[in-house]
Amino acid sequence: MSTTFMGQFPSTRLRRLRKAPFSRKLMQEHTLSVEHLIYPLFIQAGHNTQTPIPSMPGIFRHTLDFALKEAEKSYELGISAIMLFPAIAPEKKSLDAFEAYQDEGLVPTVIKALKQQFPDLGLIVDVALDPYTTHGHDGLIDEHGYVMNDETNEILVKQALTLAKAGVDMVSPSDMMDGRVGAIRQALDQHGFIHTGILAYSAKYASAYYGPFREAVNSKALLKGDKKTYQMDPANIEEALREVALDIQEGADMVMVKPGLPYLDVLAKVKATFSVPVLTYQVSGEYSMIKAASLQNWIDERSVVLESLLAFRRAGASAIISYYALEAAAWLKA
Ligand code: PBG
Repeated sequence: MSTTFMGQFPSTRLRRLRKAPFSRKLMQEHTLSVEHLIYPLFIQAGHNTQTPIPSMPGIFRHTLDFALKEAEKSYELGISAIMLFPAIAPEKKSLDAFEAYQDEGLVPTVIKALKQQFPDLGLIVDVALDPYTTHGHDGLIDEHGYVMNDETNEILVKQALTLAKAGVDMVSPSDMMDGRVGAIRQALDQHGFIHTGILAYSAKYASAYYGPFREAVNSKALLKGDKKTYQMDPANIEEALREVALDIQEGADMVMVKPGLPYLDVLAKVKATFSVPVLTYQVSGEYSMIKAASLQNWIDERSVVLESLLAFRRAGASAIISYYALEAAAWLKA
């Protein structure tokens, strides 16, 4: 035993403050509350339908009427914002992602209805073409199947303008094209949308944890291969800092690290390096793993979820996008 250790013990007993609930609370370094949560919502065309997503028990694709009910629940629980992810009908998908920027499309229609009924509930929508392309990639492809950067940016700009026109609070580029944040910021400003924010998926990894999401938005079966030519290699962290630096420089208001729990080191490093709000996304695969183990009674769902969400806060997340947002909000209130 070292002499330092002998010198500190027993006068220093870290367990002393852990003994009582009051002192545990007083020394708590990080907190999790409902306002830190963002609820992602899958939407689809039609009426009065909730379609279960087999790989995400408890999560559904909602038609507008049900989406409004989910929004109402979110608002009443005190959740800060929701995000929308559309499952687009196969006949509306195309090589040029035309449907991504139609003012009367599914997403703009839902945005308008949500903003009318719940003006104070934050509304954030993805900018990426994967729900709209016949091949499930986030951008336009050339004859070799390579996702083209600058050509894609032109469509992303149109998509962002369509979302802004519909009244979205923030657009959220999740496509990982180079230069898209700058292009979108410039276009928004030129069209007078100076208050429309940008939450950039800055460090988005080519992750196997997105599997259930791709099933939810009907892009899984279409997608051949992977997204490694635009999403980041899970081996890298310096590259994440370069991505974040560029997005901030190009005008991102908030940045994101995604997925969540396997990338806490990236989140912590981004937070320590830049003075911007950093968000994290507890993605579909993370939800499915916790849910599956919970359904087997192998883990205590509530404790595992709240512990995971708190871990994001400890690592530096300002807010967390989570499919557990509604349940967690209710647990936090109880
Ligand atoms: C689309 C997009 C994806 C997710 C959010 N936006 C999937 C992907 O990039 O393939 C994943 C979210 C999740 O897994 O919960 N660009």
